Amino acid sequence: WGKTGHRVTGEIAEVHLTKKAKRAISSLLDGHGLAFVSTFADEIKSDKNYKGYSPWHYVNFPFDKKYGEDKPSEFGDLVQGINKCIAVLKDTTSTIEDRQFYLKMLVHFIGDLHQPLHVGRGEDKGGNDIQIQWFNEGSNLHRVWDSDMIDYYGMSYTELSLNRDELSETQIEEIKKGSILDWIHESQGLAKKVYATANVGEKLKYEYMYYNFPIVRKQLQKGGIRLAKVLNDIFG
Ligand code: ADE
Ligand code: ZN
Ligand code: ZN
Repeated sequence: WGKTGHRVTGEIAEVHLTKKAKRAISSLLDGHGLAFVSTFADEIKSDKNYKGYSPWHYVNFPFDKKYGEDKPSEFGDLVQGINKCIAVLKDTTSTIEDRQFYLKMLVHFIGDLHQPLHVGRGEDKGGNDIQIQWFNEGSNLHRVWDSDMIDYYGMSYTELSLNRDELSETQIEEIKKGSILDWIHESQGLAKKVYATANVGEKLKYEYMYYNFPIVRKQLQKGGIRLAKVLNDIFG
């Protein structure tokens, strides 16, 4: 996602944290909230010292395979990245600096996991190579899903975080179910459909938003609730 998508994920997660997790996280992040730190992993991308973390934002594997059936990337990927973050945070011997760094990375990566095209096809870089028109401007399919649809609304991340359709406790429990890999495969399932929504050079506008923005909202909501679950398991 772009900045707003990540902040929405952080903001939603915040209300689903246990008291204990909230206290531990707030102390580790010097009082900053999850929304604030959610964009850190993008901010360090331009820094040469952090180049190695770039492949951790996504994972591409064949649509007819499960993750791990092919040899995972030697450079790391979203799954390996998330597992590394969790391992560091659970390791009682980790330094404070490492905990702070990997917590900020984890908040971001659980968000990216829920952008369907971050579990996309390698050949087109998760839709980045699929050029399309967004209203009257040039864009690509990946960017439409990362940010164009979200930006079009012009809503702040706090507004977007408010649940218009309030979820029941049962629905929240349902969303929390499953493993990181289950969630990855769920995103891949959505990615397959997303690829079928647009062709190269096509002009996308209102109709596209109308059908697809509800999926964006749902994915942001799931991302927030599941991020809280992962953090509660570590810090709760
Ligand atoms: N670069 C290569 N594949 C990508 C993907 N699925 N998402 C974002 N960036 C990528
Ligand atoms: Zn992206
Ligand atoms: Zn990212």
